[in-house]
Amino acid sequence: MSTQILIKNIKVLAGIDDGAVLKKSGREMSKLALIENAFLLIKDGLIKDFGSMNECPIPDALSTEYYALNIIDASGKFVLPSFVDSHTHLVFAATREEEFVMRIKGKSYEEIAEAGGGILNSAKKLQSMSEDELFENALQRLHEIIRFGTGAIEIKSGYGLTVKDELKILRVIQRLKKVSPITIKATFLGAHAFPIEFKQNRKGYIDLIVDEMLPQIAAENLADYCDVFCDQGFFTVDETDYILTHATKHGLKAKIHGNELGYTGGVQVAVKHHALSVDHLEFTGEAEIECLKNSHTMPVGLPNCSFFIGIPYMPARAMIDAGLPVCLATDYNPGSSPNPRMSFIISLACTQMKLTPEEAINATTINGAFALELSKTHGSIAKGKIANVFITKPIPSLAFIPYSFGVDMVDEVIVGGKVF
Ligand code: NIG
Ligand code: FE
Repeated sequence: MSTQILIKNIKVLAGIDDGAVLKKSGREMSKLALIENAFLLIKDGLIKDFGSMNECPIPDALSTEYYALNIIDASGKFVLPSFVDSHTHLVFAATREEEFVMRIKGKSYEEIAEAGGGILNSAKKLQSMSEDELFENALQRLHEIIRFGTGAIEIKSGYGLTVKDELKILRVIQRLKKVSPITIKATFLGAHAFPIEFKQNRKGYIDLIVDEMLPQIAAENLADYCDVFCDQGFFTVDETDYILTHATKHGLKAKIHGNELGYTGGVQVAVKHHALSVDHLEFTGEAEIECLKNSHTMPVGLPNCSFFIGIPYMPARAMIDAGLPVCLATDYNPGSSPNPRMSFIISLACTQMKLTPEEAINATTINGAFALELSKTHGSIAKGKIANVFITKPIPSLAFIPYSFGVDMVDEVIVGGKVF
């Protein structure tokens, strides 16, 4: 008989639905259904049942069912669906605290990038690290983020910037997928920055992406999506358009970095290509909001990046008020977001972006799942979904989670129906 988990006496079971909700937009984002004094039953890795404690199915203490049941008492605690982190650069070779100090002394993120730091700095370090070492480091980080309550994640390449090294990162992600207790989606981001040797020959690098990287990646099935950093000083709208046209031919949907450094047309080109998501959006005005309204593209804010490198926050409040869905992710990377905790994201969402706790949780669960095409299996507590949940410490209210910024309220984590 398979082991089952019964979580009983849950103070509040939050983020439940019937499994049919794929994303939440506008006012729906403020609704987070919950049951007080609840139970949650997990079987064969899936959510089997949940409800009020009055209906809790505790088998007879002498039965074999009872013997196979792992009972967790969650008195005073909340249970929530695990976070879905839809944007990370988790595979990297080295941290970049020297650039952090340069920014303290007055250099901007863009100035550091122009001087060969930033993404190129990370690429140089990654190019000289073996696939095995990258894998071991990344696996350790993956286990760390699972303990922080993340139950599905996207990981991008983009620190390789040569055919060999982009394939190397994507192979690392593929290996992670095989051993990971949580679902991973891989995104090819060869168009993250122009390598120095191509600074005067942009077309040369784009040809490399289109003629060499994309065909090999598609042939080996190494990526689910294709990303381009479409922004000031990086890839232009026309270059992005060209790369995405070829990515589509190889069956890769788009997930775009855009509008981080200016009103650069990233949103419009993403929507034109029916991108699954367009991420960053620190520079979002009326035109971008209108464009997103007529699309299925999920806008993804990355508040850690705003906090850490000192740029504006995505105007998430105005976007929700305009009826849009909003998703939030960590952007975990060594340059602009060295913190992988989704619980800090929800604190920033509330304090800096003026989202309510309910909106912040929807933005980091069901809408994150939508941005990774995982809404049918992840992002909420629904019968038949993968049993990815976390149990908090004893807390007085839902708002206490984002209120306790920087302090982790995640106590116990269950992924794929197993205590992690
Ligand atoms: O999403 N903006 C582009 N790429 C990453 C940062 C990469 C880096 O600085 O290493 C981001 O913030
Ligand atoms: Fe990013």
